[in-house]
Amino acid sequence: MNKELKNRVDEICKSFDISQDKLQELVDLFIESADNGLSHNSSNKSFLPMIPTFVTSIPTGKEKGVLLAADLGGTNFRVCSVTLNGDHTFDLIQSKNPIPIDLMSSTSNDLFSYLASKIKSFVKEHHNENFNSDSNNSNKLKLGFTFSFPVEQTSLDSGKLIRWTKGFNIPDTIGKDVVKLLQDHLDSQNVPVHVAALANDTVGTLLARSYTGENKEGLTSIGCIFGTGTNGAYNEKLENIKKLPIDILNDLKSKNINHMVINTEWGSFDNDLKKLPVTKYDTNLDKISANPGYHMFEKRVSGMFLGEILRNILLDLYSEGLLFNKYSNLNDLPHRLKTPWLLSSEGMSLFEIDDSTNLIATELELKNMLRLPTTLEERLAIQQLTRSIARRASHLAAVPISALVIKMDAFKGHNVEVDVGADGSVIEFYPGFRTMMRDAIAETQIGSKGERRLHVNISKDGSSVGAALCALSNDL
Ligand code: BGC
Repeated sequence: MNKELKNRVDEICKSFDISQDKLQELVDLFIESADNGLSHNSSNKSFLPMIPTFVTSIPTGKEKGVLLAADLGGTNFRVCSVTLNGDHTFDLIQSKNPIPIDLMSSTSNDLFSYLASKIKSFVKEHHNENFNSDSNNSNKLKLGFTFSFPVEQTSLDSGKLIRWTKGFNIPDTIGKDVVKLLQDHLDSQNVPVHVAALANDTVGTLLARSYTGENKEGLTSIGCIFGTGTNGAYNEKLENIKKLPIDILNDLKSKNINHMVINTEWGSFDNDLKKLPVTKYDTNLDKISANPGYHMFEKRVSGMFLGEILRNILLDLYSEGLLFNKYSNLNDLPHRLKTPWLLSSEGMSLFEIDDSTNLIATELELKNMLRLPTTLEERLAIQQLTRSIARRASHLAAVPISALVIKMDAFKGHNVEVDVGADGSVIEFYPGFRTMMRDAIAETQIGSKGERRLHVNISKDGSSVGAALCALSNDL
């Protein structure tokens, strides 16, 4: 790399470093925001939403039944039929439907009618017998609806959308009960399905991992997602959920219920940017996002945003005359490089570990993805930048995990091991993400001793199995 480019790239990468002190300050702030969120209304922008989910029991693995699950959360709408075998195992049949991009900013009617139609086709294909039976509720298939956006839940089977995230932007859904929307569309399309529960994907992941009992050491403490978006859920003592209305609290206590799963919505951690690192690239990205000023943590950590940060840096280096010099005029620069969101984190995962001669794999990917021809020097710069964006993301990812483990006092007891169930494309497929995250966990207040006792394990299909478990529990 020529010296000028090298110096500038080093300087940018340095601005993506997170010191150990910073990590620990972030952990402290997370604990404070979580405590505040448990006492204040979930829509207060400065605190973590900490949404009570009305899930009050953790599966044992003995649950049995055939249930449907529908999962709206990112780029696909999944419909599944889940058979819980009652012995920690399950069977799953699924259909995956890419969500047409125009539906992500259309109307509630268009979106929910599309979702109902996909459920209808699935039920026709796999449970056709239910179409022929009487249409009363008892013959309907029960469905758990995984809806992975911030929702103010009012019961296990109702909840109003607080705001969209991850590129969805349908203003007329905000404030509406998403279970009712889906049920109304299913009814109007005569689909014999009853939406029995609403679950966030993180809640599903937490429940599914407890059902499968893959963690031999004991209960799973946290369910989390690092994919298109990021978030986590955990089981909290009722007495700490100060914002729960007193009548609900008393009712639960009278049933001997002591805990409730909380959907933290940690994507919204530090929306006020008190401690999160801020570069001009983060600021630019936030401005063009569908939810400016919100989900500021998610915008530094999850898959939807990493590529856009890199794209912003590349355009900046171009404007400084350090990259892509063959295009003397901005108009000539490949259109795709100038288009937001087209540089994907999948592409970055390839740049991250490219060790081919002259980074030829990166060269091909950039041509393919952005129609961007590059020199070796440019590719070396891109690889270095990619690595520091991903490193920052993975180090930030350590913050909520360490903070919740400390908050829950999860290591209390003799030689306790803590299990975290995780799902999502970034944690599953981004090379080294989980390892870098663990390095950072060891640098937090938990220390390397704690890190060794903390196991972050991938929980595949967790959100669907978990939603099915929620639907089943509403049946009891
Ligand atoms: C949503 C969460 C969700 C997470 C992971 C975030 O954007 O707000 O509800 O759990 O993405 O899918």
